[in-house]
Amino acid sequence: MKYLPDRNAARPGDDPIFALNKKAQARRALGAPVINATVGALLEDDSSLAVLPAVLEALRNVPALKASGYAPISGDPAYLQAIAKDLLGDSSLASMYTAVATPGGTGALRHALSVFTERGQSVLTSNFYWGPYATIADEHERVIDTFAMFGSDGGFDTAAFAAAIEKMATAQGRVLVFLNDPCHNPTGYSMSAAEWEQVRDTLVACSARVPTVVLADVAYLAFAKDTKGFLSYLEPIAENGVVLFAWSGSKGFALYGQRVGALIACTRDESARGAIGRAMSYACRGTWSNCNASAMDAVRACLTDPAMDARVRAERERLRGLLDTRVDAFNAAAAGKNLRYPRYDGGFFVTLFCGDPKGAMEKLEARDVFVVPGPGSLRVALCSVPAAEVDRLVSELNDCTV
Ligand SMILES: Cc1ncc(COP(=O)(O)O)c(C=O)c1O
Repeated sequence: MKYLPDRNAARPGDDPIFALNKKAQARRALGAPVINATVGALLEDDSSLAVLPAVLEALRNVPALKASGYAPISGDPAYLQAIAKDLLGDSSLASMYTAVATPGGTGALRHALSVFTERGQSVLTSNFYWGPYATIADEHERVIDTFAMFGSDGGFDTAAFAAAIEKMATAQGRVLVFLNDPCHNPTGYSMSAAEWEQVRDTLVACSARVPTVVLADVAYLAFAKDTKGFLSYLEPIAENGVVLFAWSGSKGFALYGQRVGALIACTRDESARGAIGRAMSYACRGTWSNCNASAMDAVRACLTDPAMDARVRAERERLRGLLDTRVDAFNAAAAGKNLRYPRYDGGFFVTLFCGDPKGAMEKLEARDVFVVPGPGSLRVALCSVPAAEVDRLVSELNDCTV
């Protein structure tokens, strides 16, 4: 009996990254000396999940009735206000936003696609991107278009970006682009000021021509060297276009399992902003109805109680230190080796460019090193590799990718 329509008939049941992680864990359970660089979560050096105790305390302190009751469809207003204030600071964007709660950043990406594009239309992103972008687009009958992320100088290819924006504006009369910066997944790249300026100019020019929406996927923002600088490049785009933020509590608050996030939309045009807010709220009702009340309340408490805020920031600093130690160890061990990778100065992942990723992955697996292959590349999740194993990781990568 053919129960499924064609588009759903042959879906892969398991996410490839979760499948690789399972394989690595099975080898570790047999006592193999596994380096598991597949997991997109920050782990302590003893491989347990790194958490923020103050956030967990806030979660435990959520009043039972608050936790049990439905949250408002668009999300708890105090939560939305707290995260918008924290994210947008004193930038002009803080006075022109509307927001809804979403289950993680994933929900925000989903809403951006469904609210700002028609079925069959495209969203633009770099040719290296977080795989689920394509899954989310496909699930909602949208398409991912890409531009070459890196130019011959190894930096962000602003010319390829501009050409792709031009092409999309002409082809579909509207532009939606996902930029995962700072600390891009999977490459670890953060754009320089000069690159951001070019990106800004391209999008401002585009916004004078067609409806232009740029989504900043800030999933890893809390681990960036500079968490505010990029806003100044987005501010002018919101004057005549829309700037979206896919905010996530998964990494910054180490609340992966609580599924807490938000889609924040900024535009100067008040009437457009109202319509966007209503469309986003409608999309909430038409998908998950409302989000996790406890997690929203915990995040709100962490951001609005000065003592909690100070504790969370201090605890997060320790986690940033944990990660930065691994990043420094990686760069030091890679110096003088033959590995090719983009500038990497922070973030959960780095990507190695290599000719035969599948072959390299198999060789690495034979040595109990697990990484995630992509087109012409291997994604290495340093966030899940203890500092003491980084040297061995780099030398195995060097042996297997050349
Ligand atoms: C680039 C990127 N965006 C968004 C997300 C969404 O995360 P979540 O839905 O857990 O908030 C992730 C998670 O790994 C990610 O890597």
